[in-house]
Amino acid sequence: MFIRLAKPRDFDQVADLVQAVFGRYDEALLVESLRKDRKIMYEWVATESEELIGHLVMSRLRSPKHCLALGPVSVAPELQGKGVGSALIHAALEKAEEEEWVAVFVLGDPKYYDRFGFDIARASSFSSPYPIEFTGVSVLDAANFSSLTREIEYPSAFSKL
Ligand SMILES: CC(C)(COP(=O)(O)OP(=O)(O)OC[C@H]1O[C@@H](n2cnc3c(N)ncnc32)[C@H](O)[C@@H]1OP(=O)(O)O)[C@@H](O)C(=O)NCCC(=O)NCCS
Repeated sequence: MFIRLAKPRDFDQVADLVQAVFGRYDEALLVESLRKDRKIMYEWVATESEELIGHLVMSRLRSPKHCLALGPVSVAPELQGKGVGSALIHAALEKAEEEEWVAVFVLGDPKYYDRFGFDIARASSFSSPYPIEFTGVSVLDAANFSSLTREIEYPSAFSKL
């Protein structure tokens, strides 16, 4: 398996993968809208023998500043549970830390995201348009985290989902 940043030539395969994983087109459309709106900071793919098997998006939040949203994450159904999602998330968090983002927020199953250091308790002091009990935060820069605006605003493409 190989993890790298996505290139424009991957985009058709990304749309096919995301649609296959979620069984509908909404999440693929979200990825396309985020791309069109230039909100994606990092887009990662996992490949095996040139074939796309995984995909992850990190987009810039409207609020708080200098923070990212992780997701959607997609792993080919037949390859789930083999570490592809973990490899994508680790690579994405490492890059975000290297590039000095303050924090990464995720909306999803705490049982899965907990293992990557996403903290539900620390996210609970924020307001969000989505259930806060399913929101985790990975704090990359503790010194600046405490002074963030306590309001999470996702890129507008999320509201169409
Ligand atoms: C969620 C997803 C990205 C995880 O990727 P993956 O490659 O299957 O996960 P990994 O192999 O890295 O990790 C597997 C572990 O995560 C757990 N896991 C996977 N999906 C989970 C979920 N939705 N909730 C809780 N735990 C989950 C597995 O039980 C396994 O646990 P273990 O290591 O204790 O055995 C992938 O299963 C997927 O694409 N699911 C459908 C789309 C989706 O729900 N995306 C996330 C929301 S945007």
